[in-house]
This record gives sequence, structure tokens and C-alpha cells, in this order.
Amino acid sequence: MGKDVIIACDFASAAQTMEFLDKFQGKKPFVKIGMELFYAEGPKIVRQIKARGHKIFLDLKLHDIPTTVKKAMAVLSRLDVDICNLHAAGTAEMMRAALEGLTRPDGTRPLLIAVTQLTSTNQEAMEQELLIDKPIDQVVMSYAQNAKRAGLDGVVCSPLEAAKVHANCGSEFLTVTPGVRFADGDKGDQKRVMTPAQAKEIGSDYIVVGRPITAAPDPVAAYERCLAEFVG
Ligand code: C5P
Repeated sequence: MGKDVIIACDFASAAQTMEFLDKFQGKKPFVKIGMELFYAEGPKIVRQIKARGHKIFLDLKLHDIPTTVKKAMAVLSRLDVDICNLHAAGTAEMMRAALEGLTRPDGTRPLLIAVTQLTSTNQEAMEQELLIDKPIDQVVMSYAQNAKRAGLDGVVCSPLEAAKVHANCGSEFLTVTPGVRFADGDKGDQKRVMTPAQAKEIGSDYIVVGRPITAAPDPVAAYERCLAEFVG
């Protein structure tokens, strides 16, 4: 898969999601389904969106004992999604088990990427609550390398970290980056942001864009603008 824009469908119901996707008519953007929509609607929302011809990043961030993650990943793999994810903090053993679970009898599987440290976790919380006293960027890179060694395909990271992840883990290791805003847009609650053009420049493989598209007066035009800036 090449560079693409993934729309974060952070909606509370299938009805709202379908109303949004209907605006795109013939176009089939890559979409991200997160916990809110998945927990509200269950696996059928994945099947519905897949049946409409969209690629799907199922963003459920699994983190549990290896056996449980392996079995859960086998279920997600049967939903025929394109990308799944988990927390690298679950250890290399959990990540390897996840890959086994995801791999279908014919040897194919969805891409599997890892969350390193959530961008909502800062240095202070890491030190005070998680008792990790290394600098956060070192922790992010070390988790990314663990994911790579476990055989994963990439990481979710800030666009500001993407170049460093590629330098440490190789250019083939995917960087999927949220925190994207248009130069003339509202940042909302995202603190460290990049434009789609900047994300392209620093080598992100996929950008995940929510509100700049979903809350735009013309979501299709906003999506096209993202594509033009990022994919060119
Ligand atoms: O609306 P916005 O463009 O900020 O949406 C970004 C999406 O990426 C949301 O679904 C958010 O949960 C997700 N995300 C993020 N930062 C991370 C990981 C995921 O914004 N570090």
C-alpha cells in the first residue's frame, strides 16, 4: 500500500458514519474505525464499511496477555480489515502472538502497527506513574525497535517523530501519523501538529485526519485537499 490519507471516523453511531460516507459518492477513502464506533456498533460496522469498498484501519489498541491478544487478533483478521494495532508496551511476546493470530490460513494478514507512547502521556506522567525515567523520545524509539524486531509493520506516531522512526527502523517500517492540521485550520486539542504537506515532506506513510475533514463545511473538498497536499 502506498501513501494515503486515512479519515478518522470518530462518530458515535453507524447512522452518522454512513451519512458522512454517503457524501463521498463514488470515492472510497481509507477510514479509521476507533473504539467509540466499534463499541457502539460492534463488528457489523466493520463489515458494512468494508462492503462499501473502503479500506479499514481498525484502531482498537489491544494490550493483554499474549494468548488473549492472539485470539482477539484472529477474530479481527476474519473481519478482513487492512490495518490493526496494539500497544508496544504489551511486550515483544505479545506482539509476536498478535502476528500469529492475525495470519490467515493462506498466509495473508492485515498490517499490524504499534502504539508506542500515547501522545497524551508526557514525561512527567511516565516518570511519576509508570516509573519510566528515560527521555520520552528514547522510549518511543526503543518501543518502535521492539515492534520492528517482533515483526510488526510500523508504528502510530506523531508526524514529528516519523523521520526519526524511519532513521532507526528503516524506510520500509510504516509511520502512521495523526495530529494533522491545515495551515489555515483550527488546531483543536492537538498540540503538536503538521500540515499534510509537511507530513509528506518528513516521510509519513499514512496520515490520520479526523476533524479537519469530518467537521469541515465541505468534507469531500477537505479530503481532496489533504490528498493533494499529502499524496500530490
Ligand atoms: O480529529 P483529529 O484529526 O484530531 O483526529 C485524530 C485521530 O487520531 C483521532 O481518532 C485520535 O484518537 C487519533 N490519535 C491521535 N493521537 C494519537 C493517537 C491517535 O490523535 N497519538
